[in-house]
Amino acid sequence: MDRIANNHHALPPPDGVSPAPQGLFKSLQGAYFLGYVPRAVALLCAGENPLTVAWHMPVNKKPFIYAVAIAKDNYSHKLIQEGSDFTLNFISVEYLEDMLIAGKHRGGEVNKWQLFKKLKPLKALTVEALMVEQAMLIYECKKERILDFPDHSLLIGRVELLHYRKGKLKVQKVRYPLHMGKRYFSENSRVYIYK
Ligand SMILES: Cc1cc2nc3c(=O)[nH]c(=O)nc-3n(C[C@H](O)[C@H](O)[C@H](O)COP(=O)(O)O)c2cc1C
Repeated sequence: MDRIANNHHALPPPDGVSPAPQGLFKSLQGAYFLGYVPRAVALLCAGENPLTVAWHMPVNKKPFIYAVAIAKDNYSHKLIQEGSDFTLNFISVEYLEDMLIAGKHRGGEVNKWQLFKKLKPLKALTVEALMVEQAMLIYECKKERILDFPDHSLLIGRVELLHYRKGKLKVQKVRYPLHMGKRYFSENSRVYIYK
């Protein structure tokens, strides 16, 4: 493949910086699945319907704003478009099996709460959505805006209220499932404390 030209530097590169040698990298375009980058698996409830998400991130501190990419062919996308509030539930790795059930079935066809082995719903306090009783950390969110892309929408929510598990949210103990792409998962297993 041709080298991708990079003429966007505001400043010239520092002296001695050369292009990557031929053969060091294999260069691809559009390979969104590559890299084994671990991303926390969480359960988003769009109104009453749970789906698994791994493409999510904080985007602002005050107010606390959080973004999640939702695929347009998901049932939850329709619910969000129609104005549903949502909750984002961070759940320990021991419930991964249920999270994979939520990541496989379509909400319009089944009630995923009935398929879950362990996860149970509760009503959120400030938004019209369900949340997960077993979660360690929960964000209650109102839709702030939606950014449209070809196959996903970026759902941007304002976190109205946050819940965390009293006495359980310990940095040495939390074990969240991490999605590494395709069928690969891991969990955070070692905590470093930098001074
Ligand atoms: C580990 C994992 C991560 C996922 N991440 C996302 C995501 O970030 N955004 C998304 O739209 N779908 C994601 N999915 C796919 C949805 O969870 C899946 O399509 C689900 O069946 C949609 O449910 P719904 O049709 O009820 O909305 C993920 C699935 C898995 C298993």
